[in-house]
Amino acid sequence: MIAELADHARRAADAATALPNSTADAQHYISAVEDLDTFGLRAMTAVLREALPDNTVRDEDEIAAHLRVAPRHRWLLRRWLTELTARRWLSRQSGGSYRALREQNIPARSELREVCADLGFAPELAQFFARANRALPELLRDRVLAQELLFPDGDFRTAEAAYRTNPINHYLNAATREIITWAVHELEAERAPVRILELGAGVGGTTADIVAALSSSPVDYHFTDLSKFFLDTARGQFAAYPWMRYGIVDLNADLPQQPPCDIVLAANVLHNAQHCGRMLHELRELLAPGGFLIFVESCREHCQLLTSMHFLMSPKPGATPPGGTDIRAGTDRIFLSEPQWLDQLTLAGLQPQLMLPDADHPLATLGQRVFLARKRP
Ligand SMILES: C[S@@+](CC[C@H](N)C(=O)[O-])C[C@H]1O[C@@H](n2cnc3c(N)ncnc32)[C@H](O)[C@@H]1O
Repeated sequence: MIAELADHARRAADAATALPNSTADAQHYISAVEDLDTFGLRAMTAVLREALPDNTVRDEDEIAAHLRVAPRHRWLLRRWLTELTARRWLSRQSGGSYRALREQNIPARSELREVCADLGFAPELAQFFARANRALPELLRDRVLAQELLFPDGDFRTAEAAYRTNPINHYLNAATREIITWAVHELEAERAPVRILELGAGVGGTTADIVAALSSSPVDYHFTDLSKFFLDTARGQFAAYPWMRYGIVDLNADLPQQPPCDIVLAANVLHNAQHCGRMLHELRELLAPGGFLIFVESCREHCQLLTSMHFLMSPKPGATPPGGTDIRAGTDRIFLSEPQWLDQLTLAGLQPQLMLPDADHPLATLGQRVFLARKRP
């Protein structure tokens, strides 16, 4: 049954995506992902160079003081130092100080917008990355907020370019749509309406495709987010679907108080859990027996995101560990890898059933995946 769903979801997702259609194209695509990383690394380097001019040696505290890094972004500075050191863009002395950066080769594509175009990203997304890279010193000091750059004048187009209108999102949204319509179909005979809880629905990048596909199914759809701003917009956007309800749900605080549901959907939000294991355990409690958890996550930390989107993610998830230590504690990482998600699901008593795209798919290099897991019937 799952094998059939997987084939179906793969076909639908490929059909929804303008894919590299030869090995050479796939290679070009993969190299564009590497170039995008390089732009992030260069942006970090340009900022750090101020604190680490030639032959200067400074430790993390001294670098942070020199750059006047806001306390809530210190973890991000540490991530940069770790990433640059691992890639030998920076050398770490015994005692933990860092030394001046070496000059690096410029990537094959010399313009960020060219790299983004090769990845199928809309120009708004390239402009956002470029704006964030230029504003990095001010972002670090908290004098510019990433939200202002992502929603310039309240405009959603950049966020849509990041979460909706690019090839990996077309792929993931189509796969998610197939998976959720299948799950509703599995459950509807015995429990209509099927109760769906969407967490962190935000600009509705995933919701839009899904609710259109569910319009003739017996569902009760709870569209939720941490922020009222998104709920107000969604009420207008989804006015045609009377079975949709809207509410604030913080996945770090409110899960134990939610009524039982049959399907939890969460696109690009579960990594905000302060404690992933606890959050998954709470989701399992919330799900009725046989219920499904469907979620989309990034499983790879792109360097260009470390200089842009990651500024939205302070305070750092994994920092406060009530109920034990989060799997990311001490690593300054936001995203879990694929094996980490699969382990955490299993430990929480949820059975992983499907993960797409497959590892040999050209889009897999972007590191985003949709997961399907089930609570035992
Ligand atoms: C990256 S956006 C994804 C939006 C949407 N799911 C999509 O894919 O288009 C993350 C969303 O999660 C929400 N969020 C962040 N922390 C959250 C939390 N602790 N609980 C619930 N939602 C949260 C944000 O407000 C934002 O709308």
